[in-house]
Amino acid sequence: MVRFPPNFLYGAATSAHQVEGNTVLNDWWKWEADHHDLVPSRMAADHYNKFREDFILARDLGHTAHRLSLEWSRIELSDGEWNRAAVEHYRSVLEELKRLGLCRFVTLHHFTNPLWFARSGGWMSGEAPEHFARYVRFIAQYLGDLVDAWVTINEPIVYATVSYWQKRWPPGHRNIVHVERVLRHMAQGHVLAYRALKNITPHVPVGIAKHCIAYVPNSPSKLDHLGAKAHSWWFNHRFFSLTGNTHDFIGINYYFRKQIHVQGIPPLIRTIPWTGTVSDLGWPIAPQGLEAVLREMSVYRRPIYVTECGVASADDSQRGDFIRSHIRAVERAQSNGADIRGFFYWSLLDTFEWDLGFKPRFGLIGVDYATQARTPRPSAYVYKAIIDQAKAT
Ligand code: BGC
Repeated sequence: MVRFPPNFLYGAATSAHQVEGNTVLNDWWKWEADHHDLVPSRMAADHYNKFREDFILARDLGHTAHRLSLEWSRIELSDGEWNRAAVEHYRSVLEELKRLGLCRFVTLHHFTNPLWFARSGGWMSGEAPEHFARYVRFIAQYLGDLVDAWVTINEPIVYATVSYWQKRWPPGHRNIVHVERVLRHMAQGHVLAYRALKNITPHVPVGIAKHCIAYVPNSPSKLDHLGAKAHSWWFNHRFFSLTGNTHDFIGINYYFRKQIHVQGIPPLIRTIPWTGTVSDLGWPIAPQGLEAVLREMSVYRRPIYVTECGVASADDSQRGDFIRSHIRAVERAQSNGADIRGFFYWSLLDTFEWDLGFKPRFGLIGVDYATQARTPRPSAYVYKAIIDQAKAT
């Protein structure tokens, strides 16, 4: 039995490069072209053209909100050169959501950068925060009237580490100093964006979407506790410590938990392999981790939205239970005092999963990439039943 407040939002999320198709002017498109071992995103789910059909499906599946990202490279073609046609396109996208009665969460940066920005140093450049803020100001002026909440940056720590330490995403560096520099610039970019948005659209709440991992000590030992706390400080809290009081809400992207064990001298920190159920990607399915993270992030005393939570399950066998158990976890956190205002399943559609290509299937709605046909999976109706029941009570 779901017992959220009547205005609790239920929706799903997407990001531009992962579903729109043909995002030819960003650094990811170039990265895919330069790495022949990667599957290119090409048309992805062609959501750029099929957004109306997709949003009608979302509405019919009971959703009351949707989170999407804008593709910066479509909007700012080169340094300071604005593309009005792209802005008009995104106006139509947001108007369509409004017409269907869905609340609109708009992400301004979700992992991709315009090529011109990447070529001028990307987030390593001292000019990056101001470049980002200038784009944000432009968007706020032209689209602000259609937005219900702004998400400035999606998962800054994931972006900084995967792109500047793990070499898996553009620009493919492995340098800890770069990670730190990029993180600081993203934090400055967020703060500048926050101020600009508060100025131009004062009534629209602003936050980030923060990937949070539940770090669990492997044993009651002090060392394991310390290890888990240290991880959590760096991964879950660091960005908030760099950005202070510039969050009207906390957006949480939750996927899994990690069990931490610290051993020996000098101490070696290990993640203990998960022995429970895993998704198609081998990620632990651990709803109790979501509950833990929601309670942990309540320290900021801000409303919380689960801005992403989802599972890769190509045959859909795990998704229904995943949704049920994670919504129950939200409910438990809520009854223990966390102020949670909405839940966005990741993802509405099957997505281009970055360096993993199209194989992982996260969608409530399956996409046949040969025909671009959409088919809501049985789990989409599990989610719908939860939403319908909540609406009825
Ligand atoms: C990212 C998404 C991604 C999802 C699943 C999240 O961390 O924001 O872009 O598709 O994880 O891998």
